[in-house]
Amino acid sequence: MTKIAVFCSGFGSNFQALINAVDDGRLKAEIALMVCDKPYAYVLTRAKNHNIPVFLFDPNSFSSREESERLIVKTLEGLGVDAIVLAGFMRIFTPYFIGSFKGRILNIHPSLLPAFKGAHAIRDAFEAKVKETGVTVHSVVQEVDAGPILMQEKVSVLAGDTLESLENRIHETENRIYPKAVQSFISQLKTQQKS
Ligand code: GAR
Repeated sequence: MTKIAVFCSGFGSNFQALINAVDDGRLKAEIALMVCDKPYAYVLTRAKNHNIPVFLFDPNSFSSREESERLIVKTLEGLGVDAIVLAGFMRIFTPYFIGSFKGRILNIHPSLLPAFKGAHAIRDAFEAKVKETGVTVHSVVQEVDAGPILMQEKVSVLAGDTLESLENRIHETENRIYPKAVQSFISQLKTQQKS
């Protein structure tokens, strides 16, 4: 069984969608670890409710980003993790980390990349008054919110939308497509490993 580690910083609706997909067999993977950098994040409760092991770290207790990443990589390698799935993890990785899992890190972003990169993509799209935004799932490279796109889905901005109603529709879309995208990603990795 493919082992994945899911990295999260917040509410964890995408993490929950992945757990549900594993539970009902749509995602053929084991969530071996949830990595989190925020001690009060609700996503920790979700991991606890589903008995998923957690690696919680305080970025400020390390002398550098790379030092914390070395510990994370060692932990992931120790568990035999095949792929990393970012689900609302709001930290940027060093080249060391990206190189350690080259081509094996997936991210979900709440816009139609390359439009609206960054940490406030939904708000930025709403304020720009675009008629259409969406969700992108992409493989992670060093450049932030870039990398080969695996899946994209458009979300219309409706007349009368508030930022909240738009956020809700984007999150619904994310929660629906991320398990499918992760399944497709790990299937691709398996094919690559065989050839
Ligand atoms: C999601 O909308 C995800 O796309 C976004 O954080 C949210 C996490 O929600 N990620 C980024 O903006 C990364 N650049 P969740 O904690 O409910 O899954």
